[in-house]
Amino acid sequence: MAQRVRKAVLPVAGLGTRFLPATKAMAKEMLTVVDRPLIQYAVEECLAAGIEEFVFVTGRNKGAIEDHFDHAYELETTLAQRGNKRVELKQAEQATIKPGNAIFTRQQKPLGLGHAVWCARHWIGREPFAVLLPDELMVSSPTCTAQLVAAHEKTGGNVVAVMNVPREQTKSYGIVAIKTEKDGLAEMTGIVEKPKPDEAPSTLAWIGRSILMPEVFDHLDRHEVGAGGEIQLTEAMAKLIGTQPFHAMRYTGGRYDCGNRLGFLEANVAVALGRKDTASETRALLERLLKG
Ligand code: UTP
Repeated sequence: MAQRVRKAVLPVAGLGTRFLPATKAMAKEMLTVVDRPLIQYAVEECLAAGIEEFVFVTGRNKGAIEDHFDHAYELETTLAQRGNKRVELKQAEQATIKPGNAIFTRQQKPLGLGHAVWCARHWIGREPFAVLLPDELMVSSPTCTAQLVAAHEKTGGNVVAVMNVPREQTKSYGIVAIKTEKDGLAEMTGIVEKPKPDEAPSTLAWIGRSILMPEVFDHLDRHEVGAGGEIQLTEAMAKLIGTQPFHAMRYTGGRYDCGNRLGFLEANVAVALGRKDTASETRALLERLLKG
């Protein structure tokens, strides 16, 4: 039986250069979709998958993330005293993590995603763990991470979430090679970081959600610099293929790349249209704006 996934690594130490100047003094992961920051969506996605322990790999200018998941005593006390702010109080309180369940460690230098995940090694130990890139917003029920955990319970080992992308976009993703697929799950035979469209083994892209086995740290320990001059997580994953179970899971649900401006705008509109409390007003607003 597969070991239960209890911990998640959330790498949030990137520079966010595609979103400057917004990310000059503020973490990209604190950008807000409708009314909550991206990082909160990632934490809620994990909680819905039964994962309750978090390792945040942070960098400079990321202090707001730690504060976000703490209690805000002054705010909460003021809201409680006002009596008519019960909903708002609940919203503020909901954005916390149980005491002792979050660790914040610094990457110090943004040497790549593989290096960021490696920084979490002591807190993960020798058990399977989830990795989520919080700038990718996933909207689905069950959550993308819950779908991965269910797949991991079936197959054991490593499982990564994939989606089809247009061939001309393969150079922006880790692209997987698979054997025959059954019920959305396929054994993986390879993963290549950012291949040119004519060299990509498929159009199935890794979308920033995985369950990984701790052996990935044995490869990350070597600090091998790969594509783009960075220590790549996908390249360490590739080394595990063939040594232990490694599957690609076709994710079904909405996916928004909030690391770029258009994806972020799309996420805001899509989430607002998908929520009961904001749908009709958003639709009316869009119609008004489109009429010009
Ligand atoms: P991105 O590839 O989006 O990199 O990283 P970035 O630096 O944040 O953004 P751009 O490309 O400069 O605009 C995907 C995820 O990996 C984290 C990022 O914070 C983001 O959540 N990351 C990336 C690290 O934690 N450390 C790194 O060295 C690189």
